[in-house]
Amino acid sequence: MSKKYNIAVVGATGAVGQMMIQVLLEKNFPINNLYLLASNKSEGKKINILDQEFTVHALDSFNFNGVDIALFSAGSDVSKKYAKEATKNNSIVIDNTSFFRYEKDIPLIVPEINSDQIGSYKLSGIIANPNCSTIQMLVAIKPIHDACNIKRINVCTYQAVSGTGNNAIQELNDQVNAYVDNKDIVSEVYPKQIAFNVIPQIDNFMENGYTKEEMKMVWETKKIMDEKIEVNPTTVRVPVFYGHSEAVHLELEQKISADDAKKILSAKNSGVILVDEHKDGGYPCAANECENSNDVFVGRVREDISCKNGLNMWVVSNNIRKGAAYNSIQIAELLIKKYI
Ligand code: A2P
Repeated sequence: MSKKYNIAVVGATGAVGQMMIQVLLEKNFPINNLYLLASNKSEGKKINILDQEFTVHALDSFNFNGVDIALFSAGSDVSKKYAKEATKNNSIVIDNTSFFRYEKDIPLIVPEINSDQIGSYKLSGIIANPNCSTIQMLVAIKPIHDACNIKRINVCTYQAVSGTGNNAIQELNDQVNAYVDNKDIVSEVYPKQIAFNVIPQIDNFMENGYTKEEMKMVWETKKIMDEKIEVNPTTVRVPVFYGHSEAVHLELEQKISADDAKKILSAKNSGVILVDEHKDGGYPCAANECENSNDVFVGRVREDISCKNGLNMWVVSNNIRKGAAYNSIQIAELLIKKYI
């Protein structure tokens, strides 16, 4: 009989945590025991995923002894406090927060790009899962980088509220209802109204005027794909529930025509799905293509008319799936295939 593993999901009641459980079930991951963990207030809570009922336990009183893989998605403070406790008990941590991402000895993995670096988890017991916007952008541009060497990326994101968590999904829902019912709009999660609005701030402001979400795209592109690539991001929150969209503008070392780029992107092993027709609706959209998909979709591929070796594309993917839960489970699959 093939080996089965003890898995813990930390943040199991959250938007990403619940999707982690769903993806584990969808992929038929070989599970022996599945431990669902959240804060003390969720102790004993029942959650139902794909018609299976699970009971939530308090992380505070949980003993990681015997857990093979611990998937963390309960915020940086929780990872800071509990991830090392898990590794002390010989659990391997796959961390979806930004807490460990920039540490030199901790691998930051997008399986389609740098799965060869995963083995260095042995130094710390931790593997970091990248930021959702970075993951989908890098999967989309990797085949172009391989062919033509990307020198610079200019990117604007249009990010769904689910990236902030369940409380943000609720806030958008409540604000839409309040707007329709002509009631006062209350903003608690975001600094400004998110319903029928776009907010050019994700995460906190840094000293250089960029936000932390923007700098994550800079640091992570360099760490995962190529230190030499310069990135200029603007990250924006939009009133979409699931799926981030990105307008990506590449400056390449070698010129490529839009037709050749499309050939590369539509090749069987490109890792992306190309949806690119010059007709109404001939491009991917968050609420259409990616609500229930783990894939990265690319459209609007065209040469940049303002720059010598420029190429533009539109990239869409489900931020909770490929941007978070699915990427983490892909990492877990690599671990059990090669290392444990
Ligand atoms: P809980 O529901 O018990 O608060 P989201 O990203 O959707 O906001 O979800 C955050 C997740 O992180 C939830 O599962 C939440 O559990 C969990 N969480 C937050 N704080 C803690 C904590 N101190 N200990 C354990 N889990 C936590």
